[in-house]
Amino acid sequence: MQTDFRGRDLIGDLDFTKEEVETVLEVAWDLKKKRALGQLHPYLRDKALAMLFFFSSTRTRSSFEAGMAQLGGHGAFIDSTTTQISHGDTTREIGEIFGRYFDGIAIRHCDWKDGNRYLNDVASTSRMPVLNMQCDIYHPFQCLADLMTIQEKKGKDLRKKKIVVSWAYAASYLKPISVPQSVILQMPRFGMDVTLAYPPEFPLMPEIVAQAQEQARLAGSKFEIIDTADGMKESFKDADVVYAKSWGPMMTTTDPEEGKRLQDKYKDWIVDQDKMSVAKPDAIYMHPLPADRDVEVTSEVLDGPNSVVFDQAENRLHAQKAVMALTMN
Ligand code: CP
Repeated sequence: MQTDFRGRDLIGDLDFTKEEVETVLEVAWDLKKKRALGQLHPYLRDKALAMLFFFSSTRTRSSFEAGMAQLGGHGAFIDSTTTQISHGDTTREIGEIFGRYFDGIAIRHCDWKDGNRYLNDVASTSRMPVLNMQCDIYHPFQCLADLMTIQEKKGKDLRKKKIVVSWAYAASYLKPISVPQSVILQMPRFGMDVTLAYPPEFPLMPEIVAQAQEQARLAGSKFEIIDTADGMKESFKDADVVYAKSWGPMMTTTDPEEGKRLQDKYKDWIVDQDKMSVAKPDAIYMHPLPADRDVEVTSEVLDGPNSVVFDQAENRLHAQKAVMALTMN
């Protein structure tokens, strides 16, 4: 068990080693058990977390805020539009000043080419840990909750279990690519065989895919890419975990109208019972939410017996509390 977390940032999924992620999960399960038993666990009594949002949220905001309260501290919700950032507060002001007021700075900034840079710039001037509540490249706390959920459903030894990370159609907006990128980076380290599927215009960042492939090589697991226009169902074959969600075509275009036109070519990339039928009978269906119901995934699958989306959402709370308790104490 590795225990050297105090004061550390979590911005990218590989910032913590596999052994450190295992420690995080052990702490998360302990906190989950304590909450179920009603046992108080005020590891961060009188500590405060700044929660700076440049983008909307249901789960992330609520779970960080509730998590800080359950740890005996306080999560301060800060909507960026109500700050003086647009009037001149730079990343240096945020890092220096929030780092003096708070015991940790959590940030959600998903703007393409800006978000991750912003977090790293704040981290470079903050004396306190910076936690990534989702940027344009990574969503590491979602991924920790995902890993926790997969281990709860499939056992702790995930070697040779197949996870499909598939693009799905959405009509609402061009969603960030951070979730699939985090999942393909983390799961190979735990021995999972990854199949990444998307229509040709929707690849992920090549440097992230290369890092994920290297993690798979080191772990001795498989990493397969299916990038044909009709590859969704094929990718589900014999899957233990189906993780299918939409993301924008950032590698092809950042123009929203062109992106929407590309997205609309693939309306048949919906997760339905027919596609799920080629996965293993006990395959779990995962989505970080919010989902475009009956567009990305049918209600039959989303609300069906193989869906674990609410356990995933719950585990955000426990995984985040574990990281906060380890880094902010
Ligand atoms: N999955 C997730 O991050 O949800 P929110 O966008 O609601 O925070």
